[in-house]
Amino acid sequence: MRQLKWIAAPAAGLLMMLAGTSAFAVTIGFSQVGDEGDWRPAFSKDMQESAKTYGIDLKFADAQGKQEEQLKAVRAFIAQRVDAILIAPVVVTGWDQVLKEAKAAKIPVFLADRDVDVQDKSLFVTRISADFNLEGKLAGAWLAQASKGQCNIVEEQGTVGSAPAIERKKGFESIISQFPGMKIVKTQSGDFTTEGGKKVMEAFIKATDNLKGICASFAHNDNMQLGAIQAMKEAGLKPGTDVLMVSVDYVPAMKEELAKGEANASVELRSAIGKYIYPVMLDYLKKPTDLPKWIVIPSDLHHAATPLD
Ligand code: AHR
Repeated sequence: MRQLKWIAAPAAGLLMMLAGTSAFAVTIGFSQVGDEGDWRPAFSKDMQESAKTYGIDLKFADAQGKQEEQLKAVRAFIAQRVDAILIAPVVVTGWDQVLKEAKAAKIPVFLADRDVDVQDKSLFVTRISADFNLEGKLAGAWLAQASKGQCNIVEEQGTVGSAPAIERKKGFESIISQFPGMKIVKTQSGDFTTEGGKKVMEAFIKATDNLKGICASFAHNDNMQLGAIQAMKEAGLKPGTDVLMVSVDYVPAMKEELAKGEANASVELRSAIGKYIYPVMLDYLKKPTDLPKWIVIPSDLHHAATPLD
């Protein structure tokens, strides 16, 4: 059935193009996390727009940050007999059962961005994403250099149990642990949101007598750092000068903060990644082959001149 669809699709496409309508050769169900910051909606927009370029009928489901919604969406995609399922998982755990159901229905599953923690790696074809651990390392290495290895750090963590929160923390810690003068003195989750980051920073400000002795804020994403910047300014502090500010995503609002000197560094997480993801999925659907379990999208560090330069 699946192969027949591939052979018939170009002919159907040609007929429909002649009739002035569009035809889709492939239907993909995409379960997206939600729209928790500035990066995620940019990623969703790119996936929706580039699906058209690749002739993909994209069924997009926004889980609003809830894994239960993702499980429902994936089951709905299975019932609709889509050609492939793409998941950007909210958290790493809790995926085995639904992935087994997709496998039993012979629908290949791909992961975008975030990872899952499953014993049986044959439950998904591949994950196409940036290296979150490397992002944490890049942030840590920049901070080690900027602070000359002497720094008390406050950390705003991402969503608890999510791959970027786990890996960015690990990567960052693996670098700072090499510097006896660097340590995380306060850490809390701001759930990847601006409001969350603001609340967490307000709590840190209170607990440390206006960030006394604090040299840096490491946020697992820019939106939490943007919230932290607001909180610091409201407390009369100068983010970027009194405290070094390093985060991940490099969204437009963070670029503005970097230009103003209210933030110091951000590791770029590319959001226009349909061009990395769709060709892999389409090639696989044409000719299923064993792929590496992780296809890595590059990350880059961007920083402004630091007060210590
Ligand atoms: O999974 C990637 C992370 O999710 C981004 O860094 C963050 O902004 C988003 O919420």
